[in-house]
Amino acid sequence: MTELKNDRYLRALAKEPVDVTPVWMMRQAGRYLPEYKATRAEAGDFMSLCKNAELACEVTLQPLRRFDLDAAILFSDILTIPDAMGLGLYFEAGEGPRFKNPITRIEDVKQLPHPDPEGELQYVMNAVRTIRKGLDGAVPLIGFSGSPWTLATYMVEGGSSKAFTKIKKMAFAEPQTLHLLLDKVADSVISYLNAQIKAGAQSVMIFDTWGGVLSPRDYQLFSLQYMHKIVDGLIRENEGRKVPVTLFTKNGGMWLEAIADTGCDAVGLDWTIDIADAKARVGDRVALQGNMDPSMLYAPAPRIEEEVQHILAGFGEGSGHVFNLGHGIHLDVPPENAGVFVEAVHKYSAKYHR
Ligand code: CP3
Repeated sequence: MTELKNDRYLRALAKEPVDVTPVWMMRQAGRYLPEYKATRAEAGDFMSLCKNAELACEVTLQPLRRFDLDAAILFSDILTIPDAMGLGLYFEAGEGPRFKNPITRIEDVKQLPHPDPEGELQYVMNAVRTIRKGLDGAVPLIGFSGSPWTLATYMVEGGSSKAFTKIKKMAFAEPQTLHLLLDKVADSVISYLNAQIKAGAQSVMIFDTWGGVLSPRDYQLFSLQYMHKIVDGLIRENEGRKVPVTLFTKNGGMWLEAIADTGCDAVGLDWTIDIADAKARVGDRVALQGNMDPSMLYAPAPRIEEEVQHILAGFGEGSGHVFNLGHGIHLDVPPENAGVFVEAVHKYSAKYHR
């Protein structure tokens, strides 16, 4: 076990003092980087890249070579679990992810297997182990999973969706089918994330990309309840250090108190909430991650710097803030602008940590 050379990210999540605010970017490894496109071409396709531990490690490290990031995130995808359950994940050019065998009936749910993290999903754990070696203690490694609700949207819709009609029909007309699905997926997420932690992930994040399409009551019932179950089932300490868990519900700003009540360590914020309001509401209980609009990276450097300073001022003095974008970086953003963003966070945050 190597000592971390930079543990700002873990310290901020624990609300311990830091010299500057740590920063990383959601989807920091990806197509906005020409070197990513080259490695992906070498791998053939996206899933082959995920399944090749050396190449997955390479693309994880690429953004860290360019930018002074304070964390690395496992290169993989949230859809690995449904794929391992036999749904047959594939990517249609320009159309995003698709499943050959979507879930339509309770019988489909009943026969879903519980994937073995060191079996069908061993390629993910191998990537974690290889990346930890490749990082050599430079910064912490974040593991991740989708939330049960978000994974279920892809499993039932058969791919990406705008209106979520199939899964909502299931939720409201046949709730017992959906609850059985969510409960099974939650159990698989627990063993998957715990295996990532044992393999070397030093923190974990749950992406609830689609929780925000639900009503407040249905969010609690179909999404938050199952994230809460996951938080309760996770390994919270490893290698002599806390393993913090961050919950991110896109468009979840209305529900911060309820999210913090799960016992997570941090709440991820998108850009539709003012971080000063978020801090006033839950900042004494959890750390906050966020929350610049990813489209701000299209702006000229002074505008990016101004926005970073505005968000830093909103959070104010002290630890407990991990700077990030409010969602994934767009694929046509100039990489230099991401550099401006990362540098600005370090440069303008020092005064809040004296
Ligand atoms: O640096 C990183 O964050 C990379 C690891 C990562 C990927 N996907 C790689 C990826 C992470 C953390 C994810 C999470 C993910 N995947 C989410 C939750 C976060 C979010 O954005 O809300 C979701 C909803 C998915 C599902 C998914 N995977 C979609 C909708 C797509 C297609 C859209 C797209 O961006 O192309 C993917 C494919 C995917 N996952 C790519 C990458 C780099 C693009 C694949 C390619 O190289 O063509």
